[in-house]
Amino acid sequence: MHTRIVNDPAEAADFILRSEVVAFPTETVYGLGANVFDEKAVRKIYKLKKRPSDNPLIVHISNTSQVALLSVELSELALTLIRKFFPGPLTVIVKKNDIVPDAATAGLDTIAIRMPSSRIASSFIKKCGVPIAAPSANLSGSPSATGFEHVLHDFSGKIPCILIGPRTKYGIESTVVDCTSTIPTVLRPGVITLEQLKGIDKQISYRKIKGRAKSPGTRYKHYAPKARVKLLKNFSTVLGQAAYIGINIKEEEFKDRCMLYKNCEDEADYARNLFYFFRQCDVEGINTIYAQTVEEKGIGLAIMNRLKKATGVKF
Ligand code: TXA
Ligand code: MG
Repeated sequence: MHTRIVNDPAEAADFILRSEVVAFPTETVYGLGANVFDEKAVRKIYKLKKRPSDNPLIVHISNTSQVALLSVELSELALTLIRKFFPGPLTVIVKKNDIVPDAATAGLDTIAIRMPSSRIASSFIKKCGVPIAAPSANLSGSPSATGFEHVLHDFSGKIPCILIGPRTKYGIESTVVDCTSTIPTVLRPGVITLEQLKGIDKQISYRKIKGRAKSPGTRYKHYAPKARVKLLKNFSTVLGQAAYIGINIKEEEFKDRCMLYKNCEDEADYARNLFYFFRQCDVEGINTIYAQTVEEKGIGLAIMNRLKKATGVKF
């Protein structure tokens, strides 16, 4: 299949209206989208990503009025989160409207909704005229795509259209909050932090899920480069032929002695560069990546979540 690379959202939207799948940029990571009401198109996403069929997708909107089309019985909390954080890197889980086909939600009676703030994403969804079901645009288990070249690497020749955009602003996926559970729960931490959410409702919690996870996606090994990822608190001395990523690392030590390194300015910069660095390491054929651990607060909670998953640690 020939993959058309376009920069006009309207051109990309035409493919959606013809029941096709299109990759598009957002402010978090690239998404692989289809019309949520088109079951056949939604099923193509699962096949393309090799994604287990019990792992539901996020439905993307361009206007808050579309929430009413997708959901019923919105709680006060859901309404507040939508008012405060849409558009932006936050996904809310709410009760699903029956008109939404089961394919996108993997048969659950809840639905994940997000309204991207990225101008190009928003304009694309608007042109489509329908909400867009989309997981991250990477093969299942691989690091999410934060640059156009990553989408091309995973899906060139497999999808008919990629909408090009800049490297993504935040670099990791949205914060997911389940508003349907008795205690509202962060199922996936992101750049909208637990502290910010607790400022809205102090009950909101983040807990390590034992047994069957509520968010099916959290059960699988994720975000992993081909290299082995090892976590270290400090890089006191460089350990040898490997790649390193951390915050304020001593560049003199790394310059000539390791294969690749990334020195990040702060947590936000670490999040922005993490998957990008993983992908770069894969291209360079690196065997071991040492990643510096950070405190599990603020964006640090999201970084540690992605790092632990990349090491294969179950939690
Ligand atoms: O930033 C993002 O969220 C990106 C961009 C493209 O918007 N999307 C993304 O989608 O990361 P995906 O499919 O890779 O991750 C969606 C997560 C999965 O862990 C999935 O299990 C969970 O959201 N999820 C979706 N619907 C759910 C539901 N009804 N109940 C619980 N978890 C749900
Ligand atoms: Mg994903």
